[in-house]
Amino acid sequence: MARPRVLSGIQPTADSFHLGNYLGAVRQWVTLQETHDAFYCVVDLHAITVPTEPAALRRRSRVAAAQLFAAGLDAERSTVFVQSHVREHTELAWILICLTGMGEAGRMTQFKDKSAKFGESAASVGLFTYPILQAADILLYQANAVPVGADQKQHLELTRDLGQRFNHRFGDTFTLPEPYILKEVEKITDLQDPTAKMSKSSSSPAGILDVLEQPGPLRKKIMRAVTDTGTEVLFDEENKPGISNLLRIQSALTATPIPELVARYEGQGYGTFKKDVAEAVLETFAPIRERTEKLLSDEKELDRLLAVGAERAATVARQTMAAVRDRVGFLPTL
Ligand code: TRP
Repeated sequence: MARPRVLSGIQPTADSFHLGNYLGAVRQWVTLQETHDAFYCVVDLHAITVPTEPAALRRRSRVAAAQLFAAGLDAERSTVFVQSHVREHTELAWILICLTGMGEAGRMTQFKDKSAKFGESAASVGLFTYPILQAADILLYQANAVPVGADQKQHLELTRDLGQRFNHRFGDTFTLPEPYILKEVEKITDLQDPTAKMSKSSSSPAGILDVLEQPGPLRKKIMRAVTDTGTEVLFDEENKPGISNLLRIQSALTATPIPELVARYEGQGYGTFKKDVAEAVLETFAPIRERTEKLLSDEKELDRLLAVGAERAATVARQTMAAVRDRVGFLPTL
């Protein structure tokens, strides 16, 4: 039996992944490559839905790819590639755009949130069609499952709807993917505002832990993380969101159940606990940072790895698109 296929994407919009990206996505992608036929893409086409400097995009695309390999994705086992290298993404997106109702696209809550920042009329049409491009990413590879955070659920529903609509109208072409919602326990919040998600776009620098950051600043941020009144290390999301977040981080990084951690730190106060959290973060990040730096120091080799991924991805994408073109009624090219 063939392994089930997964596909996921991550945007190259920052100079480093943060702890939320790592625990919420990247680390689980690494695990999934053991059991699945895994396709992971750096979604640069999605990144340009908001204004982006070319030099920054180029740098961040390489940094993102390097971090994926450094975190443990294996170029042999997984297909790691850059979205824009496979032209079929934009081609399928156009066809799906033509199958999407204005009202249907207008209901996407992430567009509403993201466009609120510039005002809806200043947002690009690309940002509006973002979820349709995402649907193309997924359907192109006939993915069975899509490992994403809970915030992507609506986009996956749209993907299924569009796939189903195409199949219904033009004949069975696409596999309808199941969401594979990544574990909620690993929801990581802002160190300075522990009720808000750790996020590149909304967290302050002090609230975010970057994978590529140096040990000194990382340690400092954890020691200065907002904690709650009281002195006991207890898991209580409501009254102790700061400590609960640190417990979740420590638990995820050291594979220790939270109750065991709570027992371990009984009577020890926040200081000792935070020091240990910092050590766990450094132990995880330091080797990834070192491997990322090494990969980035040889751009040619990194670009070669990405070319291999792109070729593997394109083999699948071309096959899907040949069927799509024919079913839609486009003339063959001779
Ligand atoms: N929208 C996703 C996010 O912000 C990124 C993404 C783009 C993606 N294309 C995808 C995720 C395809 C899964 C599958 O996290």
